[in-house]
Amino acid sequence: MNYKNRIENFKRILKEKKIDFFLLEDSISILYLTGFKISFGKIIISQDKDILFTDNRYFEGLKDISPIEVNLFSKENVFEFFKKNSKEKNILAIDKTKFTIDNFENLKKFINELKQDIQIDITSNINPIYELRAVKDTEEINLMKKAASITWDGFKHICSILKENITEKEVALEFEIFIRQKGAEKLSFDPIVAFAENSAIPHHRVSDRKLKLNENVLLDLGVVYENYCSDFTRVIFFGDPNFQIENMYNLTKKAQEKAISLCRPGISIKEIDLAAREVFKEHGMEKLFIHNLGHGVGLDIHEFPSMSSVGADRDFILKKGMVITIEPGLYIPNLGGVRYEDIIYITDDEPENFYSSI
Ligand code: GLY
Ligand code: MN
Repeated sequence: MNYKNRIENFKRILKEKKIDFFLLEDSISILYLTGFKISFGKIIISQDKDILFTDNRYFEGLKDISPIEVNLFSKENVFEFFKKNSKEKNILAIDKTKFTIDNFENLKKFINELKQDIQIDITSNINPIYELRAVKDTEEINLMKKAASITWDGFKHICSILKENITEKEVALEFEIFIRQKGAEKLSFDPIVAFAENSAIPHHRVSDRKLKLNENVLLDLGVVYENYCSDFTRVIFFGDPNFQIENMYNLTKKAQEKAISLCRPGISIKEIDLAAREVFKEHGMEKLFIHNLGHGVGLDIHEFPSMSSVGADRDFILKKGMVITIEPGLYIPNLGGVRYEDIIYITDDEPENFYSSI
């Protein structure tokens, strides 16, 4: 990965927004900009100088391989950094979605003690790093495709071991063992394995519920491969399908196809979400679609943008290179639910479904 490039791209946005310093402390931003997986770090990016502050657990291991300067985190060292690099007036931006009130109070106190003209900017709508992360390069796409392919193989494996009386927990464990043997680092979230009525809960927690003949099985699965996440949902029928669930399944698939067909650069998220909902509406089932249409995916399982016509990202316009999930679903309490989820890569041409090319 070209971390220096990522940092330069981030700086370009800061320049446009007239931000002097951007402070990032969340582990995924640190991973994105440096490739380091650390549990404590603070990165400050500015036009002139970038620095990563971390603690003694990581300092020695990182200082010679880092794409930016690394220093030990201490009040004195951070003071010194700002004293050397501040101008007369400065704007320091933070990611307001990642700051606790406690951290924010500490930062304000720190800046007061620093006695420099530094104004904290918490007004920016979204952290520009989310928009950068949303657009993937070829190297990232290849890793995501590999994550998708392991997930697909894991799904096939699970389908082959389903039998009467197997429990949801046993199926989830089988998936985890399989994907780790195939080279995945870990699960990207706890697998959702839901039999029959349990599938009416979109994020059901696996239980000791045993599978019976003629029940539907909802499988929502994902893995992490070299830091990149996959996400995938299917409903399968163990035996003969229930008529109502089968109907919901066909309609969900239709809504998903409609949404995917619109996934091109230039379309707004709102338009895609509404188009999927319209398919359900034509059959009077729109109230049974009770969650977002999808989400960005990459280093995080859920990342910018959120695919919803009412959420904060609704007016965001899709760009070439983005990778999103499209996952409509229908749920009837005590009966069951369906969801159909694929990962879609936005290109200038037809959208590419990571699972249909496997
Ligand atoms: N596959 C889990 C989720 O998207 O929330
Ligand atoms: Mn998902």
